[in-house]
Amino acid sequence: MKDSHGRVIDYLRISLTDRCNFRCIYCMPADGVQPMGHDEILRIEEIEAIARVATRIGIRSVRLTGGEPLVRKGVVDLVKSLSAMDGIVNVSMTTNGVLLPEMAADLKAAGLSRVNISLDTLDPEQFTYITRIGRLESTMKGIDAALEAGFDPVKINAVTVRRLNQDFLGFAKLSLERPLHVRFIEYMPVGSAAGTGGSGWDKSDVIPSEELLEIINDRAIDEGIPVLEPLDGEHKPIGWGPARYFEFPGAAGTVGFISPLSRHFCSECNRLRLTADGKLRPCLFSDREIDVRTALREGGEDAAYQCFLEALNLKPDEHHDKVGTERNMSQIGG
Ligand code: GTP
Ligand code: 5AD
Ligand code: SF4
Repeated sequence: MKDSHGRVIDYLRISLTDRCNFRCIYCMPADGVQPMGHDEILRIEEIEAIARVATRIGIRSVRLTGGEPLVRKGVVDLVKSLSAMDGIVNVSMTTNGVLLPEMAADLKAAGLSRVNISLDTLDPEQFTYITRIGRLESTMKGIDAALEAGFDPVKINAVTVRRLNQDFLGFAKLSLERPLHVRFIEYMPVGSAAGTGGSGWDKSDVIPSEELLEIINDRAIDEGIPVLEPLDGEHKPIGWGPARYFEFPGAAGTVGFISPLSRHFCSECNRLRLTADGKLRPCLFSDREIDVRTALREGGEDAAYQCFLEALNLKPDEHHDKVGTERNMSQIGG
């Protein structure tokens, strides 16, 4: 179905939990967030019911997010039921990768199509600084496990923050030897990270993708390696998202750029979000939400369907450079 601005909406991002085994500085405040109550969180059967309703408005692809989706009990069974659901052609996940060594094979067998793994640096100390509690090795093992389990493509999401001074060329080179699709994401002013208390997002921290491409290519020239070349249609890794892709000639993987701020993709936006506590969120940047949990609990699937129609109607045309949202990224799911 189309929303009120004529965009086809066929992708639903489902946050399974607001909890996470990391505390990334751009995602949640240092002292964490008040966890959602047990009764507030959608039960697995409720998520399945809402996904079924979503197919009635034309949702065909779902992505499981968090917090960290793999800490949610029952996630493998949920993947299994979603991937067998009529109307759903693609079930993917965005994870920090820590639990993949023990879960990747089961997720693959359950029908998970693809994984995107969040990783922002290859420097162990910087990794622990960014995640506040994580170890680089644990995510690297998760990447190995995803490749070993046969996921393809495996994408790596790196949020870029100017003051962190990440080694972007070193990171992009992750795509050289193995089929990894590195995506650099502009740091977005979501949650309290956009103001006091969080990581303190500031406009000066945003590295526009065009500038980043130049930084990477200049360093490549310094090192005497060929620069990134744009990729078109067939060579791009499969995806439903807004990344633009490049590659180092002859590389096994690709390098992508996600530019929500410098080149926003709102006019092509194809998605709705469902939070772990059962709110439909028409736009990442808008705090207007629709309570599909209460609708489902009190009025069943038909009432939930009405919520989806309302969400299509309320979806804004664009984010209008809004800074800050009531919920943090960890409660929305990216
Ligand atoms: P693919 O299907 O693999 O292309 O997935 P994706 O890029 O849609 O999903 P992923 O969870 O890997 O998100 C990558 C980055 O894009 C994250 O930083 C998200 O927060 C951001 N992102 C995803 N959807 C939106 C959106 O609708 N608006 C904005 N502004 N950013 C988004
Ligand atoms: N800006 C951009 N991306 C973010 N993510 C989390 N917080 C932000 C932010 N403020 C990314 C995570 C993950 C994805 C779901 O969203 O790194 O890969
Ligand atoms: Fe957890 Fe991902 Fe947020 Fe980091 S970005 S705290 S890994 S949900």
